[in-house]
Amino acid sequence: MEKRLHHSPFFVLFTILLSVCHSEQQQSSQSQALLRIQELLNIPDILSVWNSKTDFCNSEPNSSSTVVCYEGSITQLHIIGKKGAPLLPRSFSIDSFITTLVKLSDLKVLTLVSLGLWGPLPGKIARLSSLEILNMSSNFLYGSIPQELSSLKGLQTLILDDNMFSGQLPDWLSSFPLLAVLSLKKNSFNGSLPSSFIDLENLRVLSLSHNRFFGEVPDFSHLTNLQLLELEDNAFGPKFPRLGNKLVTLVLSKNKFRSGIPAEVTSYYQLQRLDLSFNTFVGPFPPSLLSLPSITYLNIAENKLTGMLLDNLSCNVGLKFVDLSYNFLTGRLPNCLQSETRDKVVLFTRNCLATRKQNQHPLPFCRNEALAVGILPERKNQKQASKAVLSLGIVGGILGGFAFVGIVFLIYRRLNFKSTFKKTPTRSITENASTSYSSKFLSDARYVSQTVKLGSLGLPGYRTFSLEELKEATNSFDTSSFMGEGSHGKLYRGQLKDGSLVVIRCLKMKKSHSTGNFMYHLELISKLRHRHLVSALGYCFEYYLDDSSVSGIFLVFEYVPNGTLRSWISDRRSRRLLTWMQRISAAIGIAKGIQYLHTVMRPGEYSNNLEITDILLDHNLDSKISCYNLPLLGENTGKTVHGISSDGSKNAVIDARADQEDKKDIYNFGVILLEIIKGRPIKSANQVDVLADQIQMANAADDSARRSIVDPAVNKVCLDQSLKTMMEICVRCLLNDPEDRPSIEDVLWNLQYAAQVQDAWRGEYGSSEGSAISP
Ligand SMILES: *[C@@H]1O[C@H](CO)[C@@H](O)[C@H](O)[C@H]1NC(C)=O
Ligand SMILES: *[C@@H]1O[C@H](CO)[C@@H](O)[C@H](O)[C@H]1NC(C)=O
Ligand SMILES: *[C@@H]1O[C@H](CO)[C@@H](O)[C@H](O)[C@H]1NC(C)=O
Ligand SMILES: *[C@@H]1O[C@H](CO)[C@@H](O)[C@H](O)[C@H]1NC(C)=O
Repeated sequence: MEKRLHHSPFFVLFTILLSVCHSEQQQSSQSQALLRIQELLNIPDILSVWNSKTDFCNSEPNSSSTVVCYEGSITQLHIIGKKGAPLLPRSFSIDSFITTLVKLSDLKVLTLVSLGLWGPLPGKIARLSSLEILNMSSNFLYGSIPQELSSLKGLQTLILDDNMFSGQLPDWLSSFPLLAVLSLKKNSFNGSLPSSFIDLENLRVLSLSHNRFFGEVPDFSHLTNLQLLELEDNAFGPKFPRLGNKLVTLVLSKNKFRSGIPAEVTSYYQLQRLDLSFNTFVGPFPPSLLSLPSITYLNIAENKLTGMLLDNLSCNVGLKFVDLSYNFLTGRLPNCLQSETRDKVVLFTRNCLATRKQNQHPLPFCRNEALAVGILPERKNQKQASKAVLSLGIVGGILGGFAFVGIVFLIYRRLNFKSTFKKTPTRSITENASTSYSSKFLSDARYVSQTVKLGSLGLPGYRTFSLEELKEATNSFDTSSFMGEGSHGKLYRGQLKDGSLVVIRCLKMKKSHSTGNFMYHLELISKLRHRHLVSALGYCFEYYLDDSSVSGIFLVFEYVPNGTLRSWISDRRSRRLLTWMQRISAAIGIAKGIQYLHTVMRPGEYSNNLEITDILLDHNLDSKISCYNLPLLGENTGKTVHGISSDGSKNAVIDARADQEDKKDIYNFGVILLEIIKGRPIKSANQVDVLADQIQMANAADDSARRSIVDPAVNKVCLDQSLKTMMEICVRCLLNDPEDRPSIEDVLWNLQYAAQVQDAWRGEYGSSEGSAISP
């Protein structure tokens, strides 16, 4: 033990020196690689500022070139040329290009778009073994996708749109365990889709438009994450694909589909865009498609769909584009499609509708054609429609707009799927808020890497709750369940049916909040799962009655039983205070939580405004961060810092740079550390400055000076080396210039060192220190 103690500092110094040298070397070899890349790309204008003096890791990103580093090594490279960039000259060698590129061996995200790259994609690109996102759209790459790629187990996004790839898609494409986005639009792939694609369970986006695929689409009904399926302009068919009901976008236009539209489609409650145009779909057109709760774009033009429309059918309020042209529809144009507004397009030419508008055929034409395609307009369907409309009349009088549309949808679902439909919530349709598919959301969701996922093993799942369930859990939000009101809305304690305790945070929404925006954040929150974060268990929406907008969100969190860290550190009324060792280990937990947040969020997107009262302790006294940035709360995007200003006062360099947001967390962590060391509540920025100065001076002096500063409750048991390390890191976290503050890894390393020294000493002398440590 003695040995370990004495050697450690030297060892540390040595390691630091070694790693400094190493990272300098690494940086210069990286710069060389980038300059060589610039040369191989024929020195395009967009990279004209790159030269041997450029500090790439700290260069200003812009929309055509971005380099992102992590701990001195390049993890993201984005180079985006001008649209329609021509082929690079004959002398260009894709092989040398990729050989140079793979020297940036830590790349996780690589975008090389519109650069005129040409040639077959060399398999050695797979040497970038950390690659998670690859986008090489709009180049002139040809041949097949190299099989070597299959070794990239972390690959989450593969985008090769607008190239000249050909041949069939290989089976091994389905072997990426994390693949969420596969986009191969505008190439010359042919053959049918491998049936192994049904194993891509994380797939959210599959875009294969404008290729030469043919044959049936494999049964995707188990791909529950699939949100976007685009197959436009291929030769798929003839059967309508089987799909999960979470789809947001479904584009099947310009293929060889010849079946009817299956009833399931009317259960796709998140569907926003449905394009079936230019196929040979037959049979009745289900009018309930018009009233799907999320639908905004519906195109069935140029098919052989039949059926009678009624003028009193209802449409989703958000519907912006409807094209029914060139089918065999009869009856009347629904009133909800008649109202002409500037932002709503309705096309219905060449049907047999009873209207003078848009060139209709005479009625017998459609009847004959319907006979010719072998399917009569279905009687059953019409009956269903009128039944639904009738019940609507009764209920509709009571409830307003949104509920109205929702109920139409539910009734249709019920009629169509009596067996699969379980329970009809009368008002809060918990799941139905339209998820908008935003590419921003996807880029974040897909950034959660596997290692990060592993940290969440054994944590409870995430789901939607019904308002009824939450009312039951809290006795209708009774005052006895009320826990308090924070900056982020009211908090209630509740107990679910299964006995588990939860905390419910109630957020009121203004009408101006867009659903898309907070769906994005809700998804993000659902993905934030870690031992040192208070887990979100799910959410529930409450709606304004007069339209579809969300009036409130209930976020359900796990209940953490042991109160806040402050109550264990600086609350003198408290029965028990944490020992020095327990304090270090609480700090380690917080640092791990912060490290996780920094890994999952796009670097520096938000700081978390951490305060000691946001740190809760569980039954093992492990610390958990509650209330890490919940960006959907109001306009707060993490830029407003409540409590203590993290910018210090002197050098407030407010700069949008990612790093600085992260460094705000480091500052706030420093404030928590200060309280842990002092054992006194810290309430003002001024106090922070004064204490930090004191600590710095004490640290420069001697052991007794340090002990005079630290909380008297622990100053007898903490080992000097441990205390010194803690004080040092605390002072560094609180430096005014964000650039001078340590990285979270650095913080964590020091805390663990402090713990190790203390632990070794405890082992030696058998002190009564608790050992809650798990480095
Ligand atoms: C990005 O920076 C380069 C070099 O300064 C410049 O040529 C280019 O126009 C910039 N692009 C944009 C979109 O600002
Ligand atoms: C690929 O990158 C380009 C340039 O950033 C972007 O415009 C395009 O949307 C990306 N492709 C996909 C499918 O995200
Ligand atoms: C697919 O394309 C390749 C090359 O473009 C061609 O050789 C092959 O015959 C095509 N296969 C089918 C089934 O059409
Ligand atoms: C809708 O129209 C049909 C046929 O015109 C009619 O039988 C039905 O009563 C109407 N329903 C409502 C609610 O007006």
